[in-house]
Amino acid sequence: MKHVTRIQDLGPEGVEAVLSQAAAWKLKDPGHIFPGKLLGMVFFNPSLRTRTSFEAVMLRAGGHAIVLDVGSGVWKLEDRPGAVMNADRAEHIKEASPVLSRFVDMLGIRTFSQGGGDEEDEADPVINAFRKWATVPVVSMESAREHPCQGLADALTLRETFGTTKKLPVTLTWAPHIKPLPKAVPNSFLLSAAAAGCEVRVAHPPGFDLHPAVRAEAEAYAKATGGSITYTHDQDEALVGSRAVYAKSWGPTAQTASTPTDVAALLASYSGWMPTRRHMGKAAKDAAFLHCLPVRRNVEVADEVLDHASSRVVDEAGNRYHVQRALLAWMRGG
Ligand code: CP
Repeated sequence: MKHVTRIQDLGPEGVEAVLSQAAAWKLKDPGHIFPGKLLGMVFFNPSLRTRTSFEAVMLRAGGHAIVLDVGSGVWKLEDRPGAVMNADRAEHIKEASPVLSRFVDMLGIRTFSQGGGDEEDEADPVINAFRKWATVPVVSMESAREHPCQGLADALTLRETFGTTKKLPVTLTWAPHIKPLPKAVPNSFLLSAAAAGCEVRVAHPPGFDLHPAVRAEAEAYAKATGGSITYTHDQDEALVGSRAVYAKSWGPTAQTASTPTDVAALLASYSGWMPTRRHMGKAAKDAAFLHCLPVRRNVEVADEVLDHASSRVVDEAGNRYHVQRALLAWMRGG
């Protein structure tokens, strides 16, 4: 049984297989490849793209998706082993996951960081509880550590735009926000781009480092695929010569800022990191702009970047459908 809740479940070979299949099926629709199959989708958090694209995949492939919103028509779920369940969480994942597995053929889970810090995000307790107790394959629809479907869609978009991702210079740049965001998307972009052989430059202000385990994993992929990864606090330096610019906000490490006031002041001090056309002008002439969406215009990214012809954000979102169809097929054995 293949679960995919992190890029590690695919490795560079699996990433390549999914991207190739997604590209092929984008040209020639495979039709009803999931006849009568059910995908149970458990959402702890909101979504526009993930929810719609997975539902569309299942319906168009001859199957069906059942959407459950935790805490809204579905019991609030407990994940902690040994918890004394005397508060608002009425059901444990230890029962919920195997019970749902009796009704559906695959389970998709969306569960953001619970705000417990970098080590808790690295442990990814909620999706790992589902994974542990499910008796059907589990696919991540974004968890605390990673958003693998987003990373795959990002890599497919780069491949379509430039023909190849091998040694493609791309910059992942931190961007400002009104609040600290989880690191799942930057983690997944870094891991997917490294697994696809890109030359990745990561730019962020001091104190916004990605987790050492994520960096080590990405380094191993880059080594295996002939790619490379560099880190800098100098955004302009990273952008020079980049063929693609990927902007995303994420929160500081706990050591950098722990109180809400400290975090707010820190985020406000880096408003100059918001990508504008000045920033894009540092990159290569044909540089593409990517962002996972949703994006806060003129806080995280300037209108002039999002509305420019070089922006691929809508195509990138559209590719969620294509990579997820290929991924679910890969999980079911190809
Ligand atoms: N990028 C992404 O996952 O979008 P949603 O949060 O709308 O699903």
